[in-house]
Amino acid sequence: MCGIVGYIGDEEAVPVLLKGLKKLEYRGYDSAGIAVLGKSGLLVRKSQGPLKSLEKLIGDETARGALKGTMGIGHTRWATHGEPSDINSHPHTDVSGKIAVVHNGIIENHAKLKAWLVAHGVSFRSETDTEVAAHLIDFHYNGDLLQAVQEALKRLEGSYALGIISESDPDRIIAVRKESPLVIGAGKGENLIASDVPALLEYTRDVYYLEDEEIAVLYRDQVEFYSREGQKLSKEISHVDWDAGAAEKGGYEHFMLKEIHEQPKALTDTLRARIKTYGAKTINLEEIGFDASWAEANRVVIAACGTAWHAAMIGKYIFEHFARIPTDAEIASEYRYRNPIYHPRDIFIIISQSGETADTLAAMRMAKKSGARIIAITNVVGSTLAREADLVMYTWAGPEIAVASTKAFTTQLMCLSLIALQFGLLRKTTTEAALSGYIDALEQLSDQARKILDGKENIQRFASLQFNKAKVFFMGRLFDYAVSLESALKLKEISYTHSEAFAAGELKHGPIALVDTSTLVVAICTQCALFDKMDSNIKEVKARGAATVVITYDGVDYFDKTADEIFRIPRTLDSLTPILSVIPCQLYAYYCAVQRGLDPDKPRNLAKSVTVE
Ligand code: F6R
Repeated sequence: MCGIVGYIGDEEAVPVLLKGLKKLEYRGYDSAGIAVLGKSGLLVRKSQGPLKSLEKLIGDETARGALKGTMGIGHTRWATHGEPSDINSHPHTDVSGKIAVVHNGIIENHAKLKAWLVAHGVSFRSETDTEVAAHLIDFHYNGDLLQAVQEALKRLEGSYALGIISESDPDRIIAVRKESPLVIGAGKGENLIASDVPALLEYTRDVYYLEDEEIAVLYRDQVEFYSREGQKLSKEISHVDWDAGAAEKGGYEHFMLKEIHEQPKALTDTLRARIKTYGAKTINLEEIGFDASWAEANRVVIAACGTAWHAAMIGKYIFEHFARIPTDAEIASEYRYRNPIYHPRDIFIIISQSGETADTLAAMRMAKKSGARIIAITNVVGSTLAREADLVMYTWAGPEIAVASTKAFTTQLMCLSLIALQFGLLRKTTTEAALSGYIDALEQLSDQARKILDGKENIQRFASLQFNKAKVFFMGRLFDYAVSLESALKLKEISYTHSEAFAAGELKHGPIALVDTSTLVVAICTQCALFDKMDSNIKEVKARGAATVVITYDGVDYFDKTADEIFRIPRTLDSLTPILSVIPCQLYAYYCAVQRGLDPDKPRNLAKSVTVE
């Protein structure tokens, strides 16, 4: 996830910016850059790779005193638009190189704005959405930077935290936020901006939290605040009294818990830019290069490993449901050693959070060799998968640092739903009329996920009672079976509990022999048509002495008499429910690991990215 810092004061800005950026490294990034305003004007230096590359780049200049200046902005970039490269790194400047901008978030209407600016004679250097902001501010510049920013904001859609400096306005930094965090540090004779508090703590613990659509103007000795319309605001200062280590995790004890909580935002970010909101709401996948020719496929094959394979399984059901197209979900590490049969016009969807999983890449390359067309779903811009696929759809989840995958999974499901609906529309198995209802349901998921997270204490309490169970089995049917697989994986990988998942109808074909009084059975029951079948399964395991917990919808009382415990989730479409029903299971795995005294972020024997076989 991108990081922003900015400094205005009496100290040399470069070391302050570099120190601030270092404090934001934990967020994950692929490139870094700074802009400093000194006697010789605005100097911008940026480099792909770790901060060390940037430090190396500016080493000589810094030693010679060629990058002197007491005001500047800096950025670490996590690529969203355009691959990681020197040119795509921030800060971005206007054509004259006098205005520099750093940006976190996504400018959703950047393509439209870019076309408009190009028509007005502006030439672009990078592939980023951010560059639009620099040119737009310049376009409106009439001698007053603040006014130019206010005018530019009227045209920007999406989410942004912006830090802006200009050679023509050398005594102030302008900072703006909308749906992307930005904090102002109030020092003595110096002021700072940062996307996250740790970058400020060496200089001050007095901060102002910018609210949506507020603008801050930082001078050396004061900070002014304005509404988007230009009305002056007075804001309360807050004092930070927690330590930097905790702040890096946003106040959460572990990255995993933080990432579980980031799901509402990740879902919104992944969805928003793919929905056309003018006129009747519809899905727009033009951005990924999707056109009608893709829907001429006879078959879809979805391949992935681990958690991403569980998303693939759910994807199979989603594609069959919305697009009525034969769909297979393949474990990539198995697939690569098969002698599979390919069909003309096969489409492969390859899912990988990292985009670097060796088995997944091998499966992708085999499919490509057969002539199949490849759509990648990945979280990492510029990853090998993204580079080698024909089309790429990014999960805009931000970096996933905890080894156990959480927000990548739910955003992968969001991407699969969008592609399946688009297929459905083109194949006429989903109607325009039905689509708007589906889009409404997709848009509600973020708030529904937040509601589940608000009730996490209930799951924490349950985990504190059950964390020592010798065996935990998850069971369900169809969508709920796939979520059971994912839930069992989560629990085993971070809490080392023996956990398995069963298709509930398969119980009596063998697995029920394992059930005894030491077993907890989690029954995921979110498909009304299958409630009676699931109820029978729960009774079967109860009769063998198992403790039982059911995950079902709000307002469902079907299992009240059978289950020992019920976790409820908000109601949505069956095909979208996995995005919600997995959340209590992620939380349960997390709290069990913590109760067992384990570090959920670093489970034994596991690596975040499996780049070898
Ligand atoms: C489980 C987990 C792994 C990954 C798998 C694939 O929590 O993280 O099972 O899902 O190694 O990784 P990616 O998605 O990077 O290809």
